[in-house]
Amino acid sequence: MKKIVINGGKRISGKITISGAKNSVVALIPATILANDVVTLEGVPDISDVESLIEIMEIMGAKVERHREEGRLVIDTRSVVSRPLPYGKINSLRASYYFNGALLGRFGQATVGLPGGCDLGPRPTDLHDKAFKALGARKLQQEEAEHLEVIGDHLVGTTIYMDMVSVGATINTMLAASRAKGLTVIENAAREPEIIDVATLLNNMGAQVRGAGTDTIRILGTDTMHGAQHTVIPDRIEAGTYLALAAAMGDGVVIENIIYEHLESFIAKLEEMGVRMTIREDSIEVHKSENLKAVNITTVPYPGFATDLQQPITPLLLQTKGRGWIVDTIYEKRVNHVPELARMGADISVLEDRIIYEAPNELTGNQVKATDLRAGAALVTAGVIAQGKTEITNIEFILRGYDHIIEKLTAVGVDIQLVDL
Ligand code: UD1
Repeated sequence: MKKIVINGGKRISGKITISGAKNSVVALIPATILANDVVTLEGVPDISDVESLIEIMEIMGAKVERHREEGRLVIDTRSVVSRPLPYGKINSLRASYYFNGALLGRFGQATVGLPGGCDLGPRPTDLHDKAFKALGARKLQQEEAEHLEVIGDHLVGTTIYMDMVSVGATINTMLAASRAKGLTVIENAAREPEIIDVATLLNNMGAQVRGAGTDTIRILGTDTMHGAQHTVIPDRIEAGTYLALAAAMGDGVVIENIIYEHLESFIAKLEEMGVRMTIREDSIEVHKSENLKAVNITTVPYPGFATDLQQPITPLLLQTKGRGWIVDTIYEKRVNHVPELARMGADISVLEDRIIYEAPNELTGNQVKATDLRAGAALVTAGVIAQGKTEITNIEFILRGYDHIIEKLTAVGVDIQLVDL
């Protein structure tokens, strides 16, 4: 067990290069099962969620070659068999639900432990179930069972209206429908860049997915798919996390490997606060920014302000001047970072699911606990801003999603270390 120790309060400068997107790669790896062939993924981030998915794939019989330094995974899924998957690994991450869609598509059957992931309040999977059922699968689940079994030997395409905009349910439906008979239409689909990334891989593997990135996706099922090569898109959430940090503490920080369009709503918010930036083709330079204004944030589905970025931007909000609030309409209970930031001296609280802050705040280092992935990122940012020493425990949450965070921050001048507990 380790903790992160930061001696904060020092300005930072230099370059940070963004890695491949966690929320893409966690779907791309299960998606390779559909190929029944060899798929090469490039730009794979070195994060523990990838580690867990590789272990699960190997248990199923996949042969996985990992070239960690190059960020390359070569996955051969020809010898994969659909067998009940162990609970421990499966419930360590949310994205394990993608095995349901991929196994159902290829084998007509999946037995997968119930998904886990960060505690952001209730995270139901009814839309996934509804979509599988519409395609002709049925779900076997004993009361209090630790796994979910879906059976559907003859999936048939149909029109599925998603009652809520869901990233996971949209991707899972695309996976299963790729091998269904006939046309599936997903209405009210999520439009996140990660959905386009998964559709691109599926198409490169021989599927026919059209309209990804809009709210109507059409998938014409096919009997066979094949190997492909694919490069994962840059992680817009990692980019947003470091942009916010650079805005708070930067003396000239360049964030590289960014797709600006994926971050438009986030960058608009930084501009509203008065953050000075130079936007280039695939990088953003954040200049030293002072006299920032407090802003309000409402999280909504893409292309609106991402729920995954509301926690990482919070320490920056505390460096502005004025009062503001955050409302997370996707996960109302995503507020676990608030009491930890308060322990560091922030004037921040939660009132009826609304986060309220009054800035500027002098943050001071303290012992704090990462309660989930993005709350952990918020604490790292707060630790870099705060005067004195911040010690963060429960850092396994942070390592699930931030590739080489210690090295990347050290390179821009942060005094940060991983220390044995
Ligand atoms: C994904 C991301 C997560 C991000 C979230 C919202 C991955 C691995 N995780 O999670 O980082 O915070 O999108 O952008 O990509 N819902 C239902 N029923 C369902 C499914 C979802 O009611 O069957 C609700 C959820 O409770 C939530 C909303 O729909 O309020 C959106 O959730 P969804 O987009 O599905 O999130 P995930 O795919 O789990």
